[in-house]
Amino acid sequence: MAEKDENQEHHPVLLQSSIGYLITDKDGVYIDGTYGRGGHSQEILKRISQQAKLFVFDQDIEAIAEAQKLGKKDVRVSIFHQNFRHMHREINRCGVLGKVSGLFLDIGVSSPQLDNPERGFSFQHSGPLDMRMNNQQGMSALQWLKEAKVEQIRQAFKDFADVRGAGKWARLIKEKALANEILGTQDLASLVEKHTPKKVQMQMNIHPATRIFQAIRIAVNDEIASLKEVLQSAKEVLGKGGRLVVISFHSVEHRLLRSFAREKQSQLPVNFPVIEQEDWRIIRMLEHPSDAEVEKNRRARSARLTVLEKV
Ligand SMILES: C[S@@+](CC[C@H](N)C(=O)[O-])C[C@H]1O[C@@H](n2cnc3c(N)ncnc32)[C@H](O)[C@@H]1O
Repeated sequence: MAEKDENQEHHPVLLQSSIGYLITDKDGVYIDGTYGRGGHSQEILKRISQQAKLFVFDQDIEAIAEAQKLGKKDVRVSIFHQNFRHMHREINRCGVLGKVSGLFLDIGVSSPQLDNPERGFSFQHSGPLDMRMNNQQGMSALQWLKEAKVEQIRQAFKDFADVRGAGKWARLIKEKALANEILGTQDLASLVEKHTPKKVQMQMNIHPATRIFQAIRIAVNDEIASLKEVLQSAKEVLGKGGRLVVISFHSVEHRLLRSFAREKQSQLPVNFPVIEQEDWRIIRMLEHPSDAEVEKNRRARSARLTVLEKV
C-alpha cells in the first residue's frame, strides 16, 4: 500500500524488496495487478529493459487515470480498468498467457482512496458510506448494510476482521442502517464508539470502529473471492520460474496466502521427480518489513511479503 508519513509523502510499501524478488528477467513480461498510484510499477519500469512489457490493472477509475498518464509516456505499459480476478482472460487475449515473468499484487486500499472523504473508506473523514474501489458498479457499503442478511454481515465481521461480538454488531448496525440513522462514515464510527465500553476502548490501540470498517470494505469489494481467483489463475498466467509477489495487510489475507502456498506445494515424497509437476517454491512467506522501514513509515507495520516461484 502506498502509505503517507507525517509529511504526507507517498511511500510504496516494501518497494525495493518486493520488486527485487519480482524481476528475474529484464526482458520479461510483468503484471502489476494493483496500480494505485504506480509506486511499484515505476520501480518495475526502472529495472526492466526497453523490450520488456508491463501490464497494469486497477479497478479504481482514478488509479487508471493516473496509469494512463504513465502509459502515454512509456510504450512498455498496457492498462486495464479491471478487477484483477479477470486477469487470466485479459492476459490470454493479449497472447501472453503462460509467458509472464512476474505478477505483483499490493492488495487493499490506497492512500488516495483512504484520504478522499467522498470515497467513504475512512472513519477519520466525514463522507458517504461508500467504500467501493470501483465506484462505477456494485453496491455502496450503506446499500450492502441495508440489503445483506444479518447472518451475512455477522460472517463478514468475523471472517474478514475477527470482530469480537460479530453477531451483536451485525444486528445493531443493520437496524440503524435500515432506520436511516447511519448515512455516513461518521455516523457508523460514532455508533460503534458509543456502544464500546470505555474500559474496552482504553485497552484498544486502534479506534473501536477500525475492524468493522475493514470487514465492510472487504465484503463490499468482494476482496477475498477476488484474491482467491487471481491466486488460482496465477499458475497459468506465469511462465516456468515466474514469480508471484504479494503484499498483504490483514490476517484473513495472510491466512489465505499461507493455505494457498501450502496447498500448492508438492504433496509427493521428497525424492519424487518433480519434472511433470507444476508447483510453487516458497521463497518468502509473510515476511515482515524491516524495523527501519516501519520507523520511516508506521503504516507499513502490518504489511507482509510473500514470494512464490512457479517451478
Ligand atoms: C495498496 S494500493 C496499491 C498501491 C501501489 N502499489 C502504489 O505503489 O501506488 C491497492 C490498489 O489496488 C486496487 N485494487 C485492490 N483490489 C483490486 C482488485 N481486486 N482488482 C483491481 N484492483 C484492485 C485498489 O483500487 C488500489 O488502487
